[in-house]
Amino acid sequence: MSQQHEVQETREGFASKIGFIFAAAGSAIGLGNIWRFPWLVGAYGGAVFLVIYLAIIILVGITMFMGEVTLGRYAQRSNVGAFKKINKSFTWIGGIGLIAGFMILSFYSVVGGWVIYYFLRSLIGFGMTDPALTEQLFSSFISNPISPLIFHTLFMALTIWICYNGVKDGIEKYSNIMMPALLAIVIILAIRALMLPGAAEGLKFYLVPDLSKLTAQTALAALGQVFFSLSLGMGSILTYGSYLGKKESIPQVSLIVPLMDTIIAFFAGLIIFPAVFSYGFEPSSGPGLTFVTLPAVFSEMPLGQLFGGAFFFLLFLAALTSAISLLEPIIAYMIEEHNWNRKKASLTIGGVIFIVGVFASLSMGPLSGFKIAHLVFFDQLDWVSNNLLLPLGGMLTALFISWLWGTQNALNEVTNDGLLKFELGNFWANVMLKYIAPALVFIVFITGLGIF
Ligand code: TRP
Repeated sequence: MSQQHEVQETREGFASKIGFIFAAAGSAIGLGNIWRFPWLVGAYGGAVFLVIYLAIIILVGITMFMGEVTLGRYAQRSNVGAFKKINKSFTWIGGIGLIAGFMILSFYSVVGGWVIYYFLRSLIGFGMTDPALTEQLFSSFISNPISPLIFHTLFMALTIWICYNGVKDGIEKYSNIMMPALLAIVIILAIRALMLPGAAEGLKFYLVPDLSKLTAQTALAALGQVFFSLSLGMGSILTYGSYLGKKESIPQVSLIVPLMDTIIAFFAGLIIFPAVFSYGFEPSSGPGLTFVTLPAVFSEMPLGQLFGGAFFFLLFLAALTSAISLLEPIIAYMIEEHNWNRKKASLTIGGVIFIVGVFASLSMGPLSGFKIAHLVFFDQLDWVSNNLLLPLGGMLTALFISWLWGTQNALNEVTNDGLLKFELGNFWANVMLKYIAPALVFIVFITGLGIF
């Protein structure tokens, strides 16, 4: 008990609300917006995916985001500890999140490594006006047995180093300047892409839904992407919520962060799809889509080297702040529940994730022959974590908050500064969090998996 007290009193926190917003946005905005979102839009038939995605953000994403922040701030614990504090028998819900975070970071870091390589490459200039060359560059890079590993090592080492140094000096500092800069450059690139010849075709693909392409798998992929992009379902946002000051407005941060995240993803699509159609790439080409398309844009753009360099640098920072938020809940868990110190936890957990990541990276090249259910290891990690673990963790978290902890307790935490009248509070807690969000997740989940 006395030990728990100590944790409480020495708990690190963010210096300000703006600090939380930047850190939470830093967690949310990352490769999910610029790499994974356009890839899925392309793979699942274009605008129809976008429409479902936006609907799920509104119906599930914002509700869940607010639920996680509320639970975390009330419990003053990270992921697992928060569940344990309220009801010991449901500690395992947090455990699902830890496994998901572990799996996600192991492939996330590989892609983070690709970004570092593309950053360096863009400084030299891609000079690839023939789109076939950018495709070749990508596939020969990721399948190389050595070079992607070097960049994965670098990316993971940086992630570990920041977590090793702790929350305030680490996370907050790195998020502050980056987000506005990233937004600015994404808008500039979208304008440029929209001026390309044939851009209209891409715009049509991205914005005019063809409902005949709607399948249960599309909905499940969109659901998984909502969780992935908003960092939900594994305790990232919950853990950051535990660092949020008691005086700050939860509804306000829970609207701003998902909004910023969605805007960046939307603009990423406005860059990628006009360019995909203009250069004649295949929109459904998978995880390489962003990496193949952008170098072609930079090669033909005035000051392309400069824009390319700035863009990949910002994307690298965005990926780094997201990666931190994947590692931090596991570290916080080891510190709070197993009495490890921060340094030991960062190095050990980070090290194991790094090793799993090595295999994820190799599965794009030398180990690409090993497939489970038609998917290489990299895609397995992605699919299982995003389509299974995050929706499951998210649904259980929503049910946990509203049925076990109780909607009234949640509402008390949301409005505990006494200043805020949260008029929609009742609707949020007793309708959205209690019924609509978990039910929707459940339906999409079982139909998407073909259980129904
Ligand atoms: N949201 C991040 C992105 O879009 C990735 C991420 C960070 C994440 N923390 C998470 C995904 C927690 C799922 C769960 O790049």
